Amino acid sequence: MCGIVGILGAKPVAEDLVDALRRLEYRGYDSAGVATVENGHLERRRAEGKLRNLSERLMREPLAGKAGIGHTRWATHGAPSERNAHPHMSENVCVVHNGIIENFRELREELTRAGAVFASDTDTEVVAHLISYEMRKGAEPVEATRNALGRLRGAFALAIIFAGHDNLMIGAREGSPLAVGHGDQQMFLGSDAIALAPFTDKVTYLEEGDWVVLHRESFEIRDRQGRKVERPMLTSQASGFLVDKGNHRHFMLKEIHEQAEVISHTLTNYMDMAAGTVRFPDLGVDLATVPRITISACGTAYYAGLVAKYWLERYARIPVEIDVASELRYREAPMPEGGLAVFVSQSGETADTLATLRYCKAAGQRIVSVVNVRNSTIARESHVVLPTLAGPEIGVASTKAFTCQLSALACLALAVARARGQLSEERERELVRALVEVPRHLTSLLRDERRYEELAHWFSKAKDVLYLGRGLSYPIALEGALKLKEISYIHAEGYAAGEMKHGPIALIDEKVPVVVVAPNDDLFEKTVSNMQEVAARGGQIVLVSDADRDSIGCEVAAHIRMPALHPFVTPLVYALPMQLIAYHTAVLMGTDVDQPRNLAKSVTVE
Ligand code: G6P
Repeated sequence: MCGIVGILGAKPVAEDLVDALRRLEYRGYDSAGVATVENGHLERRRAEGKLRNLSERLMREPLAGKAGIGHTRWATHGAPSERNAHPHMSENVCVVHNGIIENFRELREELTRAGAVFASDTDTEVVAHLISYEMRKGAEPVEATRNALGRLRGAFALAIIFAGHDNLMIGAREGSPLAVGHGDQQMFLGSDAIALAPFTDKVTYLEEGDWVVLHRESFEIRDRQGRKVERPMLTSQASGFLVDKGNHRHFMLKEIHEQAEVISHTLTNYMDMAAGTVRFPDLGVDLATVPRITISACGTAYYAGLVAKYWLERYARIPVEIDVASELRYREAPMPEGGLAVFVSQSGETADTLATLRYCKAAGQRIVSVVNVRNSTIARESHVVLPTLAGPEIGVASTKAFTCQLSALACLALAVARARGQLSEERERELVRALVEVPRHLTSLLRDERRYEELAHWFSKAKDVLYLGRGLSYPIALEGALKLKEISYIHAEGYAAGEMKHGPIALIDEKVPVVVVAPNDDLFEKTVSNMQEVAARGGQIVLVSDADRDSIGCEVAAHIRMPALHPFVTPLVYALPMQLIAYHTAVLMGTDVDQPRNLAKSVTVE
């Protein structure tokens, strides 16, 4: 994972490097570092922990170079310590890396035999030594880098600078994203366009196997075979983005509050509000005859996909296969001829999702992706992109991206249902109207946020929390449990309500809060039975429902009163209490809500 950045600037670049890294912290934040070429020498500063530690270090020990690279890390090889923080260097080469060099052990042994002395436990350091080794044999930096790249196996995005070369930087991409930013007599490299937004909106995305040689006044991209190639220069839309929490204490809270607005934007993109119909792009397949839809994703995006499976099966009557990306690909799932494969990803860079997309593409599937980052790799490799208009999501625990994914997927389900003759015009208008009302319900629920602060006192004392749901509420229960464990570190499990008696019921006692996600729909009675089983064993129920407390025939410890909703849209609205329970519990417990330990927002390793 990790975020990388490089600048060939007109003035000292250390401060700008740190500014860019701040925008990349979502990719990892356990240590950081920068290096510049100063009077021909390579100078670096690194610090364990958050970026502010690096900033403080730079205040005490500034760097003056005008050519530099920077890195924010999510540890894969070697503990998160200063010695393992990037940049890594040999005597004359300095490198930052995102990804994994798979053959680093054999390279390290070979280079050690040739006299290299390693100073870290990372896979990255071999890259610096390998290039130096090539240079010792007489190669110039560009040729040495080209030879070294040919020996690396794995996934990487690299930015490299050289001692004695103040106007040279090399970038390379194999499996991890890298963008070139074009300035006025300045050049930039970054893991994404957001990192480069303060400096330029002109970006070129490298393709797999590409590497680029940058000078302040020119650049040249070559492909894996060393042939000169042209890649389009795009105008990035990231420039308007400010990393700003507004009046909110955390990005996560700001993003929770933005949901009503961004869901509206996303829905507007896929429906004609006035006509009450879905207006969907042509997916390039005949939805009436497509044999199966395969959905895959990771983490929260997977739960959005799981909701979509329920929607597509129930409303469009189409068979849907779904699995987490890391499993779908490796179990070599057979794909039907003419099938449609849907990938859901906020970042559009998740390595497992991308690999599974490629697997499905090779198996002849039509590839549709629901992504939040427009120019991401997953977006670029899809046949059709369905953007979610959530805007940049900074909090590591996904909130608004999730509900925007649900919004786009709900419209997809309706488009497929219509194409398959499963949706009358009247029914379509009814379901579209229900979707249109979602933002209003979210806004009114957010007025009662105090409630969650009270509940948090109770949750914060729990060691385990269970979340139960049935049907469309099952994925929401899973998401509720994931949110809580991600940011509060309290152990939580989501379960299908009916499965509880097959195991988790053994956990229940008066110390275990059991969150029951139970809209008053056609499955409500069944869930009530499961709730009674919990109550009979002393379990403390937190009922999230529009049903009356009295109608359930058992004691509940707390009732989060939900509005009456059309059953189709309950996942979109019931996601909110899940987010707020987790958020307020984490705040009370004093965890790092926006950057919880061990996690990263964009997971670009398998
Ligand atoms: C990480 C994030 C999650 C996210 C998942 C998938 O685990 O912490 O919030 O759901 O990756 O990410 P994607 O960018 O593909 O949606």
